[in-house]
Amino acid sequence: MKVETVDTALNPFAKDTLLGLSAQPKFLYSKYMYDDMGSRLFQQIMQMPEYYLTDCEYEILDQQTKEIQHTFSGNGQEFDLIELGAGDGLKTKVLMTHFLEQHAKFKYIPIDISEKATRELVTSLENQFPELAVEERVGDYFQMIRELNKVDFNRKIILFLGSNIGNYDDQQCHDFFQDLADVMNKNDMLFIGFDLKKDPAVIMQAYNDPHGYTRRFNLNHLLRINRELDGNFDLENFIHHETYNPVDGVAKSHLLSTCEHTVTLNALQRQFHFKQYEPIVMEMSRKYDLETIHRLATLNGFRVVKNFFDKRRYFVDSVWQLNS
Ligand code: AVI
Repeated sequence: MKVETVDTALNPFAKDTLLGLSAQPKFLYSKYMYDDMGSRLFQQIMQMPEYYLTDCEYEILDQQTKEIQHTFSGNGQEFDLIELGAGDGLKTKVLMTHFLEQHAKFKYIPIDISEKATRELVTSLENQFPELAVEERVGDYFQMIRELNKVDFNRKIILFLGSNIGNYDDQQCHDFFQDLADVMNKNDMLFIGFDLKKDPAVIMQAYNDPHGYTRRFNLNHLLRINRELDGNFDLENFIHHETYNPVDGVAKSHLLSTCEHTVTLNALQRQFHFKQYEPIVMEMSRKYDLETIHRLATLNGFRVVKNFFDKRRYFVDSVWQLNS
């Protein structure tokens, strides 16, 4: 991939957009898909029957709560339930309902970079579970855990749900686990969701859905660029194209330019030329097998303590601890 140097005075979104659209092949960082509209579209994606990931993980959390609680707290040990990128907390609420019914001793600590999302989550938790102890944190995941470590000595259970890890490239994935290993103690646990390799037709239905939500989710990224970087992307000039490679387990979203044309981003004072059918790589969603999950754990100084599968074995929530 050819990447050029960019103006460091630009804000991160501008800088990353310039970097991606100047590269060969062109790409955009998928973390920027979640503006207000993008977050709403993602909610719609998660509610589609074709997007099996949500149902699978919900099933695990709903039907294996006893075993999960036992894994987290043994004989009633107190713990902190820390959720990275909690969003609307829908899946975690199932788990917490059970924990509260069982009088488990725990505190819920959602961490998110979005103040708005965190506020909304806390308000809904206060209404639904008035007895729940919540200590929300807004900011960088690892910075927040580091601060927590100074004042709180409970066992930490860190939740990273939804196969969000699948959106990271190899370097981001390595950095993520290294940062986690840095802030975790021997007794702490990571509870992390991985989408498993399966029939490619099932995966393609989830990411090339018949309702067009995934298409709109991708096109919305171009709208964000138009709005925030004074651009003139014409959405009519792009089609959504999904691929799945069963060898590396990567589902990849692209937008293809249907015609040769030029796009101007005034805020960057740059033009970007598109050849006919030239792609922008928008997002990758990796699917895993158990060997890869074990290898990832070992490579990063962890060991797999337990795996929770849904009935179809489409998805796994894997529990990791640091190797001593
Ligand atoms: C957030 N992430 C795990 C989703 C996924 O499945 O990769 C994002 C998504 N993109 C299209 N559909 C869902």
